[in-house]
Amino acid sequence: MLERNLVIFGPPGAGKGTQAQKLTALINIPHISTGDMFRTQIKNKTALGLKAKAFSDKGSLVPDEITIAMVKDRLSQPDIAAGYLLDGFPRSVPQAEALQAILETIEKPIRAVINIMVTDAEIFDRLKKRAQIEGRMDDADPNVIQNRIKTYKEQSEPCLDFYRPRGLVKDINGLGTIEAVFQRISEALDLY
Ligand code: AP5
Ligand code: MG
Repeated sequence: MLERNLVIFGPPGAGKGTQAQKLTALINIPHISTGDMFRTQIKNKTALGLKAKAFSDKGSLVPDEITIAMVKDRLSQPDIAAGYLLDGFPRSVPQAEALQAILETIEKPIRAVINIMVTDAEIFDRLKKRAQIEGRMDDADPNVIQNRIKTYKEQSEPCLDFYRPRGLVKDINGLGTIEAVFQRISEALDLY
């Protein structure tokens, strides 16, 4: 079965963005990354961007009410008719609960949560490399990377307990080449 309402989940540097791009190119659904949305707002120095920057520079979560409102607005756009891939949202239990209510209203229930698993050592290695290529503020300082991992474990990982009993979580080994990980995701979603 072709799954079209999807969430891609995992710690910083797990490969959510990388795999999301490949997946959305293949199945032609919008890639909705809250991290990318915040970075655009920060770059454009909008009021939302200024608020978000204070949190994202430290590697902490932007407050739920700001993030939920932004996603709710995005999910009201007509381009999600054939599905969506949420990347980096939800990442707190209140966000997961709010998302559930939004999706009930628009009748677009999640079909699968792709949970990409990597080790902390791999996260540091990947983000240190990316810091030299992309210049993301939150990659430059190892303390900020550490706080992103801590934030993930404390606030985001519990979302899996929300989705697992609903039978939605597909655990994916995120180590290995980008192609190997994509192959595992494609198999888990039955894309072949
Ligand atoms: P966000 O942008 O979502 O950052 P993140 O979760 O820390 O994750 P990354 O984007 O760093 O990693 P990724 O998993 O996408 O991996 P990628 O594919 O890039 O969030 C940033 C901030 O915004 C948050 O800290 C928070 O402040 C705020 N925010 C966002 N969403 C929020 C929310 N819902 N609520 C509140 N606040 C929110 O890969 C990483 C690197 O590894 C790349 O260089 C890539 O090329 C490389 N790579 C990928 N796969 C492989 C592989 N298999 N082998 C080797 N290298 C690989
Ligand atoms: Mg990302």
